[in-house]
Amino acid sequence: MLRVGINGYGTIGKRVAHAVSLQDDMKVSGIVKTKPDYISKIASREFNIYVPDRAAEKKFDDAGIKIKGDLGKLIEDSEVIVDCTPEGKGEENLKTYKDKKIRAIFQGGEEAGIAESSFNAYSNFNESIGKSFVRVVSCNTTGLARTISPLNDQFGVKRVNATLIRRATDQNDSSKGPINAVEPSLKFPSHHAPDLKTVLHVPDVETVAIKVPTTLMHVHVVELTMDRKATAEDAINAWNQRKRVFVISGKDGRSSTAQIMDMAREIGRDRSDLYEIAVWKESVNSSGEKLRYVQAVHQESDVVPENVDAIRAMFQLLPQDESIKKTDHSMGISGSVI
Ligand SMILES: NC(=O)c1ccc[n+]([C@@H]2O[C@H](COP(=O)([O-])OP(=O)(O)OC[C@H]3O[C@@H](n4cnc5c(N)ncnc54)[C@H](OP(=O)(O)O)[C@@H]3O)[C@@H](O)[C@H]2O)c1
Repeated sequence: MLRVGINGYGTIGKRVAHAVSLQDDMKVSGIVKTKPDYISKIASREFNIYVPDRAAEKKFDDAGIKIKGDLGKLIEDSEVIVDCTPEGKGEENLKTYKDKKIRAIFQGGEEAGIAESSFNAYSNFNESIGKSFVRVVSCNTTGLARTISPLNDQFGVKRVNATLIRRATDQNDSSKGPINAVEPSLKFPSHHAPDLKTVLHVPDVETVAIKVPTTLMHVHVVELTMDRKATAEDAINAWNQRKRVFVISGKDGRSSTAQIMDMAREIGRDRSDLYEIAVWKESVNSSGEKLRYVQAVHQESDVVPENVDAIRAMFQLLPQDESIKKTDHSMGISGSVI
């Protein structure tokens, strides 16, 4: 079993730790937390707890949380580190990983240049085979790559034009906003366009991003210019062949992100997560060489199966299709929820 250390146990780290613990070819060697808060207390029931450096040990001792060591010790106890620390911190940690000769996965908050490759399981799994440093692209970029990649494979995509309506922050965060404003990105394209190009080889990508006061999901309005015409039915068939995308209908009540996330709660998903990208069937529209659709992205969880597959690619544990299938099966990703 490959030993996986998780450095940073927040929104993404705790979910990656859980997903790794569901696999039979890898296990969690431990997780790093900086604060001895309620999350650390809950995590200590299941995982070995480490701290970034020895200075933090006393705080954890005082809170009655047993720790196994510092980041250096976690590195000794692991074969790969999944770095889920806040944006920019991964860049600082890279030097430590290189000095200690441990392989690492970074998240989408880091610049693409931090790693040898950026990763999306559908669009470019093979580019991370055998690599030491890999970056799983952001939740938004993962959402776009997931639905565009099957269409690109079957019909060819010349141009992507996407408007990203972004959630303001995650559900457990009371410190960020906006809470009463709409905040557009003031640069064309937004940073998502070059990011998408790191995993999906489409010549022309334009994106604009707008932050709105919600915590549930992002919504993307996508317009593709196709090489070969794809009807709405063709697109839906292509997505139906991939379990990490599912096509839903607004007609049975799932007409907004509120009901989509409610569905995830109702079906008893871990942490009420929705790993799949939900595309509204009614929105899929084909006209000439254009294909348009609207999709919803659960930002807290869509990148989680990607991290598991990135580990398998780096360590050549399984080829692309088998890894995706194994991850999907273990996490209950079945393609059609209801
Ligand atoms: N949230 C999303 O929707 C989302 C989606 C996709 C990708 N990402 C990316 O994933 C990465 C992590 O984001 P996140 O949302 O999970 O952040 P987060 O919820 O703020 O969690 C970050 C975690 O890192 C820990 N941490 C802080 N400083 C640390 C240090 N010096 N050493 C070790 N751990 C440290 C924090 O621990 P304490 O709690 O103990 O301080 C916290 O648990 C970022 O690159 C982000 O861009 C985020």
